[in-house]
Amino acid sequence: MARVVALLACCCPALGFVAQSSYTSLKPSHGVRPATAAGPLRMASANGSAKKALVLGGDGFCGWPTALHLSDAGHEVVIVDNLSRRNIDLELGCESLTPIQTMQTRLKVWEQVSGRKISWEKIDVAKEYDLLLALIKREKPDVIIHFAEQRAAPYSQKGSREKRYTVDNNIGGTHNLCVAIVESGLDIHVVHLGTMGVYGYGNSGGQIPEGYIDVILPGNREQKILHPAYPGSVYHTTKCLDALLFQFYNKNDGLRVTDLHQGIVWGTNTAQTVRDERLINRFDYDSDYGTVLNRFLMQAALGIPMTVYGTGGQTRAFIHVSDTARCLEAAVNNPPATGSGVEIFNQVAETHRVRDLAQLIDSKTGTGIDYISNPRNEAAENELDVRNDKFGNLGVDFKSLDENLLDEVQNIAQKYGDRADLTLVYPKSYWNKNRVAAAAGDASANAEQQRLFVDVKAA
Ligand SMILES: NC(=O)c1ccc[n+]([C@@H]2O[C@H](COP(=O)([O-])OP(=O)(O)OC[C@H]3O[C@@H](n4cnc5c(N)ncnc54)[C@H](O)[C@@H]3O)[C@@H](O)[C@H]2O)c1
Repeated sequence: MARVVALLACCCPALGFVAQSSYTSLKPSHGVRPATAAGPLRMASANGSAKKALVLGGDGFCGWPTALHLSDAGHEVVIVDNLSRRNIDLELGCESLTPIQTMQTRLKVWEQVSGRKISWEKIDVAKEYDLLLALIKREKPDVIIHFAEQRAAPYSQKGSREKRYTVDNNIGGTHNLCVAIVESGLDIHVVHLGTMGVYGYGNSGGQIPEGYIDVILPGNREQKILHPAYPGSVYHTTKCLDALLFQFYNKNDGLRVTDLHQGIVWGTNTAQTVRDERLINRFDYDSDYGTVLNRFLMQAALGIPMTVYGTGGQTRAFIHVSDTARCLEAAVNNPPATGSGVEIFNQVAETHRVRDLAQLIDSKTGTGIDYISNPRNEAAENELDVRNDKFGNLGVDFKSLDENLLDEVQNIAQKYGDRADLTLVYPKSYWNKNRVAAAAGDASANAEQQRLFVDVKAA
C-alpha cells in the first residue's frame, strides 16, 4: 500500500508509535451508505473466468450462501465441512430458527433447481491434515475460501473447554491450510474470513484503515505494519493469530492471501437460497451464536423485548449476508498478484450503535427494549470509524439496513417463530468473574423475563 498523506494523526501511547492515515469515512448512524468509488462490477459471469473453489465451512451461515452464489455465477465449488456447527447446536440444546436441511438434501436440491453440481467432503481441517492435503492435490483448486472456524465470541468465552477448542480448531485449521498449500506445490489463492474485532473497538484513536497502518517508529523511521491487534475475546484472538500466520507464509512461501475483516452479518436469505425452501440458510438467534441484529429482529417479530447489553452504546460494523457472498466473489475474482503482500479488505457496509438499532426496530414494531447487564468485558460506549472503499473500488454496492429490515422480520422470524425456544436468548456465557457478579445483580429480573418468555411462547 502506498504511503498516504497524513490528514489525521493518532497516538497509540501503549504501542509507542504515531499512526498516520487519510481515509473516507463510514459514519455510525443507521442507513448511512459508505462512500464508494462506483465503477463496473469486476466479477465473473457464467461464461467468464470460471474458477474452481474449495469452500471450507460451506455448511455454515456465511459459507452456504456463498457456495451457492459462486456456483450460480459459474464457478466450480467443492464444500469442505465437518458439520461441527451442527454438533455445537446439539451440545447447546439450540437449533437454527429456520429448518435447515441435511447437507445431502441441500446439494441434491441445488442441483435440481440450478442444474449445477456442488460436491461435499466431510473433513476436519484442523485435525485431518492428510485428507485435506490429498483433496487439494486431487482437486487443484484456483482458490480456497476459509470460513471453517468456531466463530462465536460468547461460545469461546464459555469455559476452559470452549476456549481451548476455539484456539485448537481455528489456529490448527488455518495453519494446516497454509502448510497443505505449500506442500502441494500449487499456487492457490486463499480467501480468509477475518473480523473487524481484530482491530478492537475505539482503541486506536482514529479511523480504522484496511489492515495496514503507516507508522513512525522511534528514530523517525517510517514503516507500514499490520494494524495493532486488540482482540476482545478468545475467538477474536484466533483471528489476530491467523493474520500473523498469513503474514509469515506470504513472506516465506509466497502464499497469496486475501484476508477479509468482516463486520457482523445479518439477514438470512440470498437470491439463491430463496429458490427452494430446502435451500434456506441457517438463522441463529440464541445468545451464543445469534448475531445481534438477527437476535433483535427475531425478538421483535415475536413481540418480546429486545435484550440490549449494558447501555447499548457499543458501535459495531454490519453487513447483509447477500453482500458477504458478493464480496467473496469480488475477492475470488481479484486475487493479489504473485509476490505481493497479504491483501486485506474491511468487509463492512455500515456502522451502528447497538441501542440505535434496538430503538429503530422498536419504533417500527413497538416491541420494547430490555437493558440487561453486559456479559462481555468491553467498553460501554465506543465510536467506530472504518475505511471500506476497497470493495467499492471493485464495484460492490452494499445493501443498507433500511431496505431489508422489514422483509427479514416478516418473512423469516415470523414464519418460523414457533420453532424458537425463547429461553435461549438470555446470555449464558460471561467474559470473566466480574461479569458473572454483575449479572447476579439483575438475576431476578432475568429470571422473571425468562418466565415471561416461556409464558409468551406457551400463549
Ligand atoms: N457470522 C458473522 O457475523 C461473522 C462476522 C465476521 C466474521 N465471520 C467469519 O466468517 C466465517 C464463517 O462464519 P459463519 O457465521 O458462517 O459461522 P458458522 O459457524 O455458521 O460456519 C462455520 C462452518 O465451518 C465449519 N467448521 C468449523 N470448524 C471446522 C473444521 N475444523 N473443519 C471443517 N469445518 C469446520 C462448521 O461446521 C460450520 O459449518 C468464520 O470464520 C467467522 O469468524 C462471521
